Amino acid sequence: MIKNSAYYIQLENKFNAHNYHPLPVVIERGQGIYVWDVEGKQYYDCLSAYSAVNQGHCHPKIIEALTEQAKKLTLTSRAFHNNLLGEYAEFVCDFFGYEKLLPMNTGVEGGETAIKICRKWAYEIKGIPANEAKIVFAKNNFWGRTIAAVSSSTDPNSYTNFGPFTPGFETIPYNDLNALEEILSKGNVAGFMVEPIQGEAGVVVPDEGYLSKAYQICKKYNVLFIADEVQTGIARTGKLLASDYENVKPDILILGKALGGGVFPVSAVLTHQAIMDVIKPGEHGSTFGGNPLACAVAMAALKVVKDENLADNAFKMGEIFRNRLSAIASPLIETVRGKGLLNAAVIKPFGDGKTAYHICLELKENGLLAKQTHDHIIRFAPPLVINEQEVNKCCDIIEQTILRNSD
Ligand SMILES: Cc1ncc(COP(=O)(O)O)c(C=O)c1O
Repeated sequence: MIKNSAYYIQLENKFNAHNYHPLPVVIERGQGIYVWDVEGKQYYDCLSAYSAVNQGHCHPKIIEALTEQAKKLTLTSRAFHNNLLGEYAEFVCDFFGYEKLLPMNTGVEGGETAIKICRKWAYEIKGIPANEAKIVFAKNNFWGRTIAAVSSSTDPNSYTNFGPFTPGFETIPYNDLNALEEILSKGNVAGFMVEPIQGEAGVVVPDEGYLSKAYQICKKYNVLFIADEVQTGIARTGKLLASDYENVKPDILILGKALGGGVFPVSAVLTHQAIMDVIKPGEHGSTFGGNPLACAVAMAALKVVKDENLADNAFKMGEIFRNRLSAIASPLIETVRGKGLLNAAVIKPFGDGKTAYHICLELKENGLLAKQTHDHIIRFAPPLVINEQEVNKCCDIIEQTILRNSD
């Protein structure tokens, strides 16, 4: 039997749950901004595993940290101390300017953790009556797939037939400060959890000033401002954090994805001591959270971001990318938006009911991997180690593909 792409795809379809609809490409190797399929074809990776591979595939320094630590110690659980957790927590707190870190694994666990800390703070410090604390989210938010995450979702794909849902969550329109002020003024709000740019919604960038004003409104009503920077954080948008664009220091910061350098699930919740101290032993945790392998990988992952100036590079390459895409003379492209290297093109339906998915299929044929979000949006988020020549090459491929479909 020939083990080609078709073989692997049918095998996966047969035994794996059909909870995703991947592009028909089977990747077996990655290096930097490139991946190769099982037939040996090379592609530009313009998704970066949903921004988890910001440092590029198999970054040698991250792989070295992973393998060196793997030979020594991988997991102790938090029943015992390990010799890396303290060093790691100090490193990350210094890196992002916080006092305390709570280590978890996936992004959604980071969100759950932030909400638990926020609710506990609301009852024990702010003084909201028991079980009445509300967390406010923006509509079209995405922070994962757990019951709590889908309970705050406004996307029917995420929540349909998964009820009953977690109470205590309210949604307001994104980028709407009046709606925020109105709901906070009604009382009993513990926190406002928001993505500085809505990633899964289609790289929706709010108006300039939205984050800083939302933060001020939160302060006015003694509500915690929780930034979900799982996708936007760690240099993706051209600054270390997307909140940095507006000099906002979130009360609670959630990180994930690229914190693990694309090799390991590592997430973290960062906050100030007075807030974090509401969590006492036994009240929250995770068997794998804060494991020494994750600590070693995440420190290496953040060092790469700093040493290689990935935030600056993302900023510069993003400008080139958006300028090139905006200049494509095609009625197919409705708009191009984004910050740094988190970008999207909104595609008008074309041909006989064709959507962004068809463009993604053709991009794949032309050697570039990108994924549609919803029917009409293509996200472009290459690893942040991409250089100018490579950005231009990606733009050439996108331009040719769009133009070929524009008649
Ligand atoms: C903003 C945001 N938060 C949280 C998550 C959930 O992360 P994970 O899939 O690692 O649980 C995602 C995933 O796409 C995300 O984009």
